[in-house]
Amino acid sequence: MMKTMVESQFIPDPYTHYPETGSVSWQSPSNIALVKYWGKYGEQLPENTSVSFTLSHCRTITSLQFEQKETDEFDFIVLLDGKPKDEFKPKIQQFFERVESYLPFLRKYKFTIETSNSFPHSSGIASSASGMSALACCLMEMEQSMLSSQISEMDFNRKASFLARLGSGSASRSVEGPLVVWGEHDGIQGSSNLFGVSYPFDVHENFRNYQDTILLVDKGEKVVSSTAGHNLMHGHPYAANRFKEANDNISKIKEVLASGDMSRFIEIVESEALQLHAMMMTSLPYFILMKPNTLEIIQRIWKYRKDENSIICFTLDAGANVHVLYPESEKEQVQAFIASELAEYCKNGEYIHDRVGLGASAISD
Ligand code: PMV
Repeated sequence: MMKTMVESQFIPDPYTHYPETGSVSWQSPSNIALVKYWGKYGEQLPENTSVSFTLSHCRTITSLQFEQKETDEFDFIVLLDGKPKDEFKPKIQQFFERVESYLPFLRKYKFTIETSNSFPHSSGIASSASGMSALACCLMEMEQSMLSSQISEMDFNRKASFLARLGSGSASRSVEGPLVVWGEHDGIQGSSNLFGVSYPFDVHENFRNYQDTILLVDKGEKVVSSTAGHNLMHGHPYAANRFKEANDNISKIKEVLASGDMSRFIEIVESEALQLHAMMMTSLPYFILMKPNTLEIIQRIWKYRKDENSIICFTLDAGANVHVLYPESEKEQVQAFIASELAEYCKNGEYIHDRVGLGASAISD
C-alpha cells in the first residue's frame, strides 16, 4: 500500500548500531472507550473519532528478548505466563508484516516475546489493546537503541501508538493517559487517524481519579472477533448515522469534560455503549453479546443512581462485561453496592476495581 507523507514520518533514519542481543520490558494498560470506535477502513483507520479513559491496574507486561540472526524471515516465539502460546503467532506475524517498513530491523532478529496480564485469563477483558501497546513500546525502545539521536517523548509515544494501532485499533489509545483521543476531529487539534493523542484540553476535577469497576459477567470466548465485527459495519444500514453520531458525541463530551456536567456525561457514555451493541444487533449476521446478567446489572445501576442520587453509570465493551464508572468521591458507597448487589451477577462473583491511569511505562531490570 502507498504510504502518505504523514505515514512516511514514521520511517526511521538509518540505524547506526545493531545490538547483538538484548532485552526490553514494558507494561501497558487496557483502556475503556467513552465514545466508541466501531468500524474501520483501509489499514486500521477508524471511521469515527473515539475517546477513552486509560486504565491503571488492568495491564499487560511484555518483555522482548532479541538476538541477531542471518536468515531473512520473521522469527519469534510467544510465551504467555511462561508457556508457549502459538495461538498468538498469526496476529503477531500479521502485525510484523504491517509494521515492517516502519521498523526495518525486524527481520534481522530472533525474538522471544514473553507476556502476562494482570487480569485473569479469558476474563473477557480485551488484552489486545494492552498487549499490542506493550509490544509496540518494547519495539520502540529497541529502535531507540539503534539510532544515533534521542527520540523525544512525544515522538516515541506517537510512533508507539501508530504501531500499536496497526496491531489493534483500540491499542493506539493504550500508550498515554488519562484520556486519549484517536481519530481526526475538527474540534480536537492534533487528533489523527494514525495514532492516539493525549486529550489536549483541561478536564474538570470531577473526572480526576475516575473509577472503573469491571464486572466479569461472562468469560467465554468472543462469539465474533473484533475484526469481523468492524467489517460488519461495511454496508451496515445505520453505519453513516452511527459515525456521525459518534463524531457529534465527541463534540458534546468535550463540553462535558470541561464543565463537569455529570448528567450529560452519563447520557453520552451510556448511549455510546448501547449504540455499540445496537450496531451488532442490527448487522447481518446480527449478534448479541450482552447476557441476561448484563441487563440485570444495568437495571440495578439505574435504580441505585435514582435512589441514592448518585452519578454512577455504565459502559460496555464488545462483550457481556459491564464497566461501572463513578467518581472518586463515591468510591466507598459504590464499592459497597457492587459487593452487596452486583457481585452475584458476575461469574464466580468476580470483578476488578480499576481507575484511570497514566499509560505505558518501561520496566527496568
Ligand atoms: O481494537 P479492536 O479492533 O479490538 O476494537 C475494539 C473496539 C471496542 O473495544 C469495541 C470499542 C472501543 O472503542 O474500544
